[in-house]
Amino acid sequence: MIVLGIESSCDETAAAVVADGRSVLSTVIYSQGALHQPYGGVVPEIASRSHLEKIAGVISTAMLQAFGSGTETQVAPAWWEQVDAIAVTYGPGLASSLIVGLSAAKGLALRTGKPLIGINHIEAHIHSVFLSPEAPAPAMLYPYVALVVSGGHSSLIEVTAPRKCRVIGQTLDDAAGEAFDKAARLLELGYPGGPVIDKIARGAGCCSTIDFPKGSPRAGNPILGGLNPELCVSFSGLKTALMYYVRKNPPRDQAEVAAVVSSYQEAIVDALAQRCATALAPGRYKALAVGGGVSLNSRLRERLTAVAAEAGVPILLAQPRFCGDNAAMIAGLAGAGGGVTGAAAMELDVVPSLVAGSV
Ligand code: KG4
Ligand code: ZN
Repeated sequence: MIVLGIESSCDETAAAVVADGRSVLSTVIYSQGALHQPYGGVVPEIASRSHLEKIAGVISTAMLQAFGSGTETQVAPAWWEQVDAIAVTYGPGLASSLIVGLSAAKGLALRTGKPLIGINHIEAHIHSVFLSPEAPAPAMLYPYVALVVSGGHSSLIEVTAPRKCRVIGQTLDDAAGEAFDKAARLLELGYPGGPVIDKIARGAGCCSTIDFPKGSPRAGNPILGGLNPELCVSFSGLKTALMYYVRKNPPRDQAEVAAVVSSYQEAIVDALAQRCATALAPGRYKALAVGGGVSLNSRLRERLTAVAAEAGVPILLAQPRFCGDNAAMIAGLAGAGGGVTGAAAMELDVVPSLVAGSV
């Protein structure tokens, strides 16, 4: 099954063609990072306008790269015959961004007569670990636990069967990527903050010289909504602690900036690693899968690899090019049988707060 995937949930406009849920024939990502950089975060109006401008070109390029011989400049109508379905993210994300991809996908589905498949972005991040020829088949791993950490989400998700997953832990406030981005903004290090902080912290050596709060939510917090607090995180206190620390001790040189960011990163990584260790401790899960933009963080990769080894389970990390938002994970999950299909797909509207496992 060959699927064209389309993704526009936040600030990346992406399209990809994937065969059989895992062979990536093409993947094209237009990142709007530079447009949002002056604001230190994603500006929804700028994001949706940019998606509108870029989406047609991004889809054509993905089709050309998948089916062309390298000399074509236009999509040949016959190439559509090789595509079995069109998959698109319908949530979660920014409503004004999601609507651009969903409208484009519906239009293409109507025009080509191909079935539409609506995909949950978070479930697609989990699937990103399988977009590699070396990755084991998901069927061998159930039940497993997945950590999805990005600019918008920090969730622990239990996956028990194909199309069957459930959130078992999440952030009560800021996502891990947001915590990185806000710290970088405060310290005027640029946007997105994660990669910059990762790089500075790597140069600073390991790990924590300043004691920042470890992101543990209090039991009894009504926002937990029945989730186990030991599997949840809270990063808003950490951000406030950083603000007060920097106000009292403004870093005087690069070395002091490095000490602050490596300690701050360690607090985030520690919180996430501890939650994964707690989830794996009872021995119920057969693997740990990790996806999302923050899973690019070198210290997090190191710590989670150790956590999985300690629990005696394999760790599945998405390839770096599939960690951030991309459309290969959207087409891949659709090709593997996920998503909303049939007549219901054409009826879909965007769902900005869609939860993993809700369909
Ligand atoms: O998955 P993604 O591309 O988009 C969302 O769905 O949000 O994730 C973007 C987030 C940003 O917050 C960015 O700062 C963070 O991922 N990020 C990192 C690293 N690379 C990207 N965070 C920590 N370390 C990194 N190396
Ligand atoms: Zn994402």
